[in-house]
Amino acid sequence: SSPQVDRLFIAPGNGGTAAVGQNVPIDAEQIEALVAFARQESIDLTVVGPEAPLVAGVVDAIAQAGLRAFGPSAAAARLEGSKAFAKQFMIEEGIPTGMGAIFRDYGAAQAYLRQRETPVVVKASGLAAGKGVSVCSTRQEAEEALRQMMVERVFGPAGDEVLIEDCLVGEEASLLAFCDGRTVAPMWPARDYKRLGDGDVGPNTGGMGGYAPSPYLPPALVEELRVRILQPVIDGMRRRGTPYVGVLYAGLMLTEEGPRVLEFNARFGDPETQVLLPLLESDLVDIFLA
Ligand code: GLY
Repeated sequence: SSPQVDRLFIAPGNGGTAAVGQNVPIDAEQIEALVAFARQESIDLTVVGPEAPLVAGVVDAIAQAGLRAFGPSAAAARLEGSKAFAKQFMIEEGIPTGMGAIFRDYGAAQAYLRQRETPVVVKASGLAAGKGVSVCSTRQEAEEALRQMMVERVFGPAGDEVLIEDCLVGEEASLLAFCDGRTVAPMWPARDYKRLGDGDVGPNTGGMGGYAPSPYLPPALVEELRVRILQPVIDGMRRRGTPYVGVLYAGLMLTEEGPRVLEFNARFGDPETQVLLPLLESDLVDIFLA
């Protein structure tokens, strides 16, 4: 808790948040209703948690209403909202990432898949609640994942564009940082476990559990990642006229050839936040305001 907060509202909240503030029955994606509520209650600071309202422009809408919100604009949140945009951006900025190709045409995607080695990764470009990534150990599995995304449209329009990527092997790490559009302040590195089953097997989920600090990212490596990955993201986004303000989350694979970015998230990670925030000694509100 922060001495600067005397009233806390959570929209829509849940049974746990009711213990720390007042739940408000407005869905996180009802942007107009959220702005109206923020106006009505003269909310000093809105902190946006999930990706869908960020990508839909809730921070822009709150700013247009003359109020303060912590999180990236819709244009900056494309780093998470479009994996195709993020991949293209990383290639242009020389940010280390895995080899991958982007497709809108199902036939072209099938043809590319036939030339790749397995295991291979098939990703829906748009938002799919953490479930749009299939790590496929056989070509048959990959063809099925591709068909489900592009033909069955199990993720709706999120699968109209797909990425087919070489599978990176190593230890995974999550490096989250506070960003003000120019500077980057990394948090402790964390490890989350995305796969459904015990022993880190099965399909990817939105996240099963995690811990921090991750011993795989000692301070010298975090500093190297700040210089080679996080700062170039902030500089590149600012140069494009879409400065990145908020929490930038780099999902990394520590391969034998060095760290590679798997994905960016435009927000605090779940479950990483549950292990990172208890390690924070500063007042979180001061950070949000900065
Ligand atoms: N831990 C991954 C995520 O929040 O999407």
